[in-house]
Amino acid sequence: MPTALSPDQLAQYRRDGFVVLPGFRRPPELAALRERAEQIVAAFEPGDQVSIFSTHEQRRTADAYFLGSGDQIRCFFEEEAFDAAGRLRQAKARSINKIGHALHDLDPVFEAFSHGPELAGVASAVGLAQPRIWQSMYIFKQPGIGGEVGWHQDATFFETTPQSVTTFWFALEDATLKNGCLWVAPGAHRGPLRQRFVRQDDQVRMDTLDTTPWPSGAEAQPLEVPAGTLVVFHGLLPHYSAPNRSPHSRHAYTLHVTDGRAAYAAHNWLQRDASLPLRGFV
Ligand code: FE2
Repeated sequence: MPTALSPDQLAQYRRDGFVVLPGFRRPPELAALRERAEQIVAAFEPGDQVSIFSTHEQRRTADAYFLGSGDQIRCFFEEEAFDAAGRLRQAKARSINKIGHALHDLDPVFEAFSHGPELAGVASAVGLAQPRIWQSMYIFKQPGIGGEVGWHQDATFFETTPQSVTTFWFALEDATLKNGCLWVAPGAHRGPLRQRFVRQDDQVRMDTLDTTPWPSGAEAQPLEVPAGTLVVFHGLLPHYSAPNRSPHSRHAYTLHVTDGRAAYAAHNWLQRDASLPLRGFV
C-alpha cells in the first residue's frame, strides 16, 4: 500500500481531526461524476415521492423514501425548492439537494470514482484497517437555495464501537465562503459524541447523549478548497456548512466509511443485507 499521507498530514489529521488533500481527483474525473449526476437527476421522476432533506426539522425522520434509500440511488429535494402551493420554484435540476445513498455500489461511474488504491492508501493511513463504505452522497448545494447544514458529527449517523466512521469529502467544484463551504472546529474531534440518530423499525429519532455545546463561531474554521480536493475527517469532528446564497453551485461528493473491526450499531438507520454486501476501496 502506498504511503498516502505525509508525516505532517498524518500529524495534522490526528491533531485537528481532518486533513485537506488538494488535487486528489483530476478535472476529467470530476466532470464525469458531474455529468453522471446530471443524467440521474434528468431521469428522476419525482411523482409523489417528494422528500425534502432537512437537518433542522427532522422532516425526513418519518420518511420511508429516505429510510429505504440505503441500498438505492434516490434524489432528494432542497427544502426551499417548493413554493407555498407545493410547486417547484425552479427547474428540477436546480431543485435537488442530493442523491444518495448507494451510488458507489450501484453506478459504474460513481463506483470508479469511489474506489482505487489511492483512496485505500488514505484510509489505511488514517487507521481504517478494514474500510467499509456504507454511504455515498452527491450534494448539490444549489445556487440561491442550497440549504444550511447545522453543526453535527457524522458519527451521530454511523455509530460503531469503537468509533471509526470517517468522512471522505470531495469538492467537485470550488468551495468558497460565498457558496457554502464546509466549516470545521479543529481539534474538537477529541470531544464527546453529542447526538445519536436511532432507527427503530420505520421510526427514527435523535437522542441527546452529551450536552457539550457546539463550538463557538471563533472556533470554526472555513475550508475554502478548490475543485478536486479531498477532505478526510474524523467522525467526531463537529462541522457545518452555511446556506448557498450565491449564483454558483457547490457540488460535493461524500463517502462515509467505517472500520470492519469495529461493531456497527444495530440502531444505525442504514443497514445492509447480503443482497448488496459492503465493500472497501479495492
Ligand atoms: Fe456531515
